[in-house]
Amino acid sequence: MNKHLTINEAADIIQQGGLVAFPTETVYGLGADAFNAAAVANIFKMKERPSFDPLIVHIVDVADLEKLFHHVDDTILKLSEAFWPGPLTIVAPKMHEVPDIVTAGLGTVGVRMPSHPTAAALIKNSGKCIAAPSANRFGRLSPTKAAHVVKQFPDFNNVIDGGNTDVGIESTVVSVSANGFELLRPGVITIEQLERVVPQAKTVNAENTISSPGLLKSHYSPQKPIYIIGESETDGLTCSKAGLISFGKPVNGEAYKYVEILSGTSDLSEAAINLFAAIHRLEDSDADYIVAEPVPETGIGIAIMDRLRKAAYQYTKKK
Ligand code: TXA
Ligand code: MG
Repeated sequence: MNKHLTINEAADIIQQGGLVAFPTETVYGLGADAFNAAAVANIFKMKERPSFDPLIVHIVDVADLEKLFHHVDDTILKLSEAFWPGPLTIVAPKMHEVPDIVTAGLGTVGVRMPSHPTAAALIKNSGKCIAAPSANRFGRLSPTKAAHVVKQFPDFNNVIDGGNTDVGIESTVVSVSANGFELLRPGVITIEQLERVVPQAKTVNAENTISSPGLLKSHYSPQKPIYIIGESETDGLTCSKAGLISFGKPVNGEAYKYVEILSGTSDLSEAAINLFAAIHRLEDSDADYIVAEPVPETGIGIAIMDRLRKAAYQYTKKK
């Protein structure tokens, strides 16, 4: 039986160089003091995360940017004023003091200010900047509630239970320069919203770069096959053995063993909130595999399809 931590207990653990899983508005994070390299190394160890994949540093006050970013230019100021606290990660050249292990040796660091009150209180009470990836084993599904963390780390007791997260998918990640921003990972803050604040420098072609490891083609995968209708090899699958992830009203839903409806009203924000929890439930069920209907690729739909395609990558028809 896992015992859940209070915020103050968790803050003490962070100060002492330990690890804590905590809720943010996007997904649960697995955090450590960002300036304690040994503590951060334990995050990589626990997640079995490759050392080339950099972590996001979480802050509670823009004044903390002085410790992290080499300089805070106009683009950073505008984006942080518009979207923080909230699900946007800003990547920019780092201060020398930020440990290399946090940034995977890159000259840049990703920073965000979470809006979740528990995350904010943990950062504030610990007095630290907290480096935290999502609290899942590398390549596996991101957690949107404490039970998802416990499922992947049954022996880990340092979990703050903050209920279900209210955005459901990981933050939008942008790298910034004087010219504007580049999108490194889509999220619920869309390109259109960002462009209203600063110009877009250029679009990163996810196929051609892994300047951001969040762009790895395969990621966020459940422990059983997942197929996207119209994109994956679905010949030979039997619907009655499958769990269906449906965006709105399912097509042919009665044929499936289980049906997970992401949004009864086909609302993309609601679908994002429910996405990982639905895949977790089907992963835990006795369905042999998971079949997902695609969602419209506009606004938040771009981020949802990004996560689905990474989950389904090994079953996708290669062009
Ligand atoms: O919503 C979120 O962002 C959650 C919560 C816990 O804050 N965190 C999260 O972290 O999704 P993680 O480690 O699962 O994904 C972080 C991704 C990296 O894989 C990488 O793509 C990008 O953020 N990133 C971080 N620092 C970067 C850097 N210096 N340069 C390029 N990409 C970076
Ligand atoms: Mg992750």
